[in-house]
Amino acid sequence: MTEIKASTGPKYARIYSVGSATPSRVIDNEFLLQYIDSSDEWITQRTGIKERRWVAEGENIETLAMEAASKAIERAGIDRAEIGAVILSTISHYHQTPALAPKLAYQLGIPDAAAYDISAACAGFCYGLAQAEAIVRAGQATYVLLIAGEVISEITNLEDRGTAFLFGDGAGAVIVGPSETNGIGPVVWGSDGGQEGVIWQTADWHTAVETGVFPKLGMDGRAVFKWATSFIARATKKCLDDAGLTPDQLDVFIPHQANDRITDTLLRYLKLPETVVVARTIRQLGNNSAATVPMAMDALLSSGEASSGQTALIIGFGAGLVYAGQVITLP
Ligand code: UT7
Repeated sequence: MTEIKASTGPKYARIYSVGSATPSRVIDNEFLLQYIDSSDEWITQRTGIKERRWVAEGENIETLAMEAASKAIERAGIDRAEIGAVILSTISHYHQTPALAPKLAYQLGIPDAAAYDISAACAGFCYGLAQAEAIVRAGQATYVLLIAGEVISEITNLEDRGTAFLFGDGAGAVIVGPSETNGIGPVVWGSDGGQEGVIWQTADWHTAVETGVFPKLGMDGRAVFKWATSFIARATKKCLDDAGLTPDQLDVFIPHQANDRITDTLLRYLKLPETVVVARTIRQLGNNSAATVPMAMDALLSSGEASSGQTALIIGFGAGLVYAGQVITLP
């Protein structure tokens, strides 16, 4: 048999930097009350959300992704010519083909990078991070730019009192590259297509082309809540176990920002010490789907609540149903 040379790479990978972008339009709970029978008190108590950001004129998935990616590249202090792969995680790009990642790579001045989009809804960033880590460690690219960006406001059904208040737009990006020590733990990920009907899109994009009306997002909130506080709680614990850590070794917890009450349940399940810094960006940003985790990471680092080198547990979960999480060293 002819021997084929295998690629080899560095033993470890880590996140070098993070950047994020939030759109300019602030939508408070009061604004939504013209569409749904609800109250600021109910939304705040049941979810934690006080406001979210939606795109304004001239802002879109491309502008948000470009801003987040530019910040991440600049903060990493690397030569962009060494970025060998660009991954965009999104469910907000209008076109089935071509993917948006090649265009972003071109606009960012990254020559000849492998570039592609992935669709893993709210688990999208953590799915992408697993890929980026594997690409670096296999020696298939020196650095990987991973972007997660969403414009969920465009598919939000303003008249659905079960979802209208939940989502916000935004983007986050990281640079992943080689490391002397391990900065990204084993991914814990999976899916349950048997629950594909729990979070859904009301029509496909072909219908949108015919009618000019965007499909909307629908969700059985109670079913997702139950899954998140039982199955996902166990998956979150497995992220720690697989990384060989105990709860007291954790500095920061960045769960998907779906609901403050889900976060509270995960905290109780994991028995995390009170010293652990917990992401609560849902209060100002809502649920940003794939972009949630990197946006929360950037917010915690920028505010000084968390710092570079600390150990963080991240996990995303959502439509599919899909989930992914890992322990990381903060950039
Ligand atoms: O990123 C994707 C993952 N998504 C999630 O993880 C979302 C998970 N689910 C949730 O966060 C929650 O299920 C929601 C926030 C969506 C809903 O909260 P809930 O506590 O599960 O509400 P519920 O549907 O069980 O409804 C409880 C009560 C009902 O009234 P009764 O029957 O108890 O009198 C509803 O009619 O709240 C009522 N209700 C509302 N009241 C005011 C439902 N929606 C609203 C509303 N405003 N918007």
